[in-house]
Amino acid sequence: MSVSEIYETMDYGTAPENAADALAWLVDQGSRFGHFIDGAFTEARDDFESRNPANGNVLATLTQASQAEVDTAVAAARKAQPKWAKLGGHGRARFLYALARLLQKHSRLFAVLETLDNGKPIREARDVDVPLAQRHFYYHAGMAQLMETELPDAEALGVCGQIIPWNFPLLMLAWKVAPALAMGNTVVLKPAEYTSLTALQFADICVQAGLPKGVVNIVTGDGAVGEMIVQAEVDKIAFTGSTPVGRRIREATAGSGKALTLELGGKSPYIVFDDADLDSAVEGLVDAIWFNQGQVCCAGSRLLVHEPVADRFYAKLRARMAKLRVGDPLDKSVDVGALVDPVQVQRVTEMVAANTSGEVFTAGDIPATGCYYPPTLITGMNPADPLMQDEIFGPVLVSTTFRTPAEAVELANNTRYGLAATVWSENINLALDIAPKLVSGIVWVNGTNMMDAAAGFGGVRESGFGREGGWEGLAAYTRPKTTQKPLKEITAFSGSGTPADPIDRTAKLYIGGKQSRPDSGYSAPVWGKSGDLLGHVSLASRKDVRNAAEAAHAAKGWSKTTGHLRAQILYYIAENLAARGDEFARRLDAMQGAKSGKSEVDLAVKRLFTYAAWADKYDGQVHGVPIRGVALAMKEPVGVIGALCPAEAPLLGLISCMAPAIAMGNRIILSASGPFPLAATDFVQVLETSDVPAGVVNILTGPQKDIAETLARHMDVDAVWSFGDKAQSETVERASAQNLKRTWVNNGMARDWDGAEGEGKAFLHAATEVKNIWIPYGE
Ligand code: NAI
Repeated sequence: MSVSEIYETMDYGTAPENAADALAWLVDQGSRFGHFIDGAFTEARDDFESRNPANGNVLATLTQASQAEVDTAVAAARKAQPKWAKLGGHGRARFLYALARLLQKHSRLFAVLETLDNGKPIREARDVDVPLAQRHFYYHAGMAQLMETELPDAEALGVCGQIIPWNFPLLMLAWKVAPALAMGNTVVLKPAEYTSLTALQFADICVQAGLPKGVVNIVTGDGAVGEMIVQAEVDKIAFTGSTPVGRRIREATAGSGKALTLELGGKSPYIVFDDADLDSAVEGLVDAIWFNQGQVCCAGSRLLVHEPVADRFYAKLRARMAKLRVGDPLDKSVDVGALVDPVQVQRVTEMVAANTSGEVFTAGDIPATGCYYPPTLITGMNPADPLMQDEIFGPVLVSTTFRTPAEAVELANNTRYGLAATVWSENINLALDIAPKLVSGIVWVNGTNMMDAAAGFGGVRESGFGREGGWEGLAAYTRPKTTQKPLKEITAFSGSGTPADPIDRTAKLYIGGKQSRPDSGYSAPVWGKSGDLLGHVSLASRKDVRNAAEAAHAAKGWSKTTGHLRAQILYYIAENLAARGDEFARRLDAMQGAKSGKSEVDLAVKRLFTYAAWADKYDGQVHGVPIRGVALAMKEPVGVIGALCPAEAPLLGLISCMAPAIAMGNRIILSASGPFPLAATDFVQVLETSDVPAGVVNILTGPQKDIAETLARHMDVDAVWSFGDKAQSETVERASAQNLKRTWVNNGMARDWDGAEGEGKAFLHAATEVKNIWIPYGE
């Protein structure tokens, strides 16, 4: 056969990786594993098997953790944590560095074991999973080293429960364990039941590294063990996996005070414009949807092709698909390996069988036995088809076409997810015009599936919240150093009597730039300390909350304004508030029965200035990722924020929520202080004279309890902040599970609104999402 014929047919010989060392390692361990708790392996039981999905062979038997075992692991982590934190950044950095070195030293064993257990091609385990896992430990060794100087106000959360999926077993472990340990936390981690082996090998290298006992604990088992960890006495849950389980964890942790990050599913668009380098875009798709058999949360699984090139592009894609090699994952020449388990093959098969739309193309001969599924392309789909909306998590690509860039954006964002997106175009202006318009945590330009420890990974909407990696990822493993006291309940003053003024002066709600009567038609009196009637406020109903959400949603133009413009408006609000300062001070004194009104107004004016200052200065970053190119970490507004303002500090609390939110380009629905609502309703007049566009700020009065629930359930509200009592925090967290919106709650703890706790970066962080836009350079 001539060289050109070989190129034409792409015939190849097999290049099998030798699995002997990995299999021998399993035998050395007795082919059965207990848990890794407090620095040692527990007695193994043969509770369930871990199989090689490529051939069904049993690799080892594993132990399903009991409640007592989970409790022991959590207790070990708890005991080890203070000492681990006190070891200091440099001490921890040395251990993280040692773990990175050991991962490197045993890299081939890790890679082969991963491929045996998971079914992913050895090429990927060797070139992606294992090197990236090492990189995470090296990178976070550096973060540990820098913690004291760069994050002086941050401290460890404590014990972190970490639950990871089966698609990148070692890599997900690294993403979870490295930042947690770096910041001084200890962990109890549960690998997925299908793929626990590399986690157990990692336990082995923790011993080799001399890691203090109890810092890393690994318990094995299925979702029931995951539930036990969620319920345990831990300070944080970090979960990666399916959206339904993420939602259940959100509900289960509501009101518990546990920090939570969720990295969930996706249905990421892959947009190809007519001026794209089509061959590169086809090659990109191989990485986007056939990498790891499509079992990737950020897989480019929804292909959107510009109509003028669609036929040509599909022809190229089908030709490339025909050349994909599906088979033994240990063969270094294989492109597509086995799915993780027969359950997944069945799931994908059923989902595709239920589809009645489009034209199906499958490629590649698949082996007769083993968990294989052929690479599949379905073109001519309708946006609402289930396969265009639901995560398949297999090697199945669905596609439709678009005519204009605007239509591409609309189709791309037509999903409940928001993890990643890919844009292919040779026109940098077009690509960088589209990137900010895509609702997703990550955008790749002319490339795909690029990941690195230095760039935060994570999504928006039902793809979850929180970031892993980069500076932004550390927020998920630290908390500010403060000693908080429980919030004191404030009851409204009461009184009796009738108003002297026969004309109704009930303060109205402020929705969409207009003062409106409440839908309920009800109002309530507001009394002063000595029982004098100060006024009436409207009681907002669910309908009013929905109207406010609609108005805020419609004011999306605000998010596109410049920081400079937003700063001008905040200064203007401050000026108008200052001009009426005496009036506000008197109102505050009358409502609160105190003499603090003047200082509260002064602080509110100052705070408005602070956020006017930040409006054009809370910059993004350029991450130094190891590619020839950059990852731009852009700070974007969250969208529509609902804020349940504190009962105390009726004006300052309101301003402390409103100002950072609108400074960052969000629209906000403010639920005013329950006992002292009149400062908020007076403030409407300040807003009306300060050029704030309609719908950007909406103010509701009435019982926060009802408003909280409706806000947290609303699908068009992107985040809710709660500074009310503990029960309200729980309501907000539980109800937010519906659309997995971001929440920021106080768990019934007090905040010093007058001091540093009342303003600053914590508010700016809550008001923004980071989008990482990857832009490689070169031809
Ligand atoms: P899963 O979400 O059930 O499993 C992920 C992890 O969560 C595993 O460790 C599992 O044991 C644990 N878990 C399961 N139920 C739990 C519970 N109630 N409480 C705490 N932990 C629990 O995912 P599964 O069933 O393995 O896969 C089903 C589908 O989920 C996939 O087809 C895919 O669509 C999606 N998925 C998405 C992933 C992602 O990275 N976004 C990863 C894995 C699955």
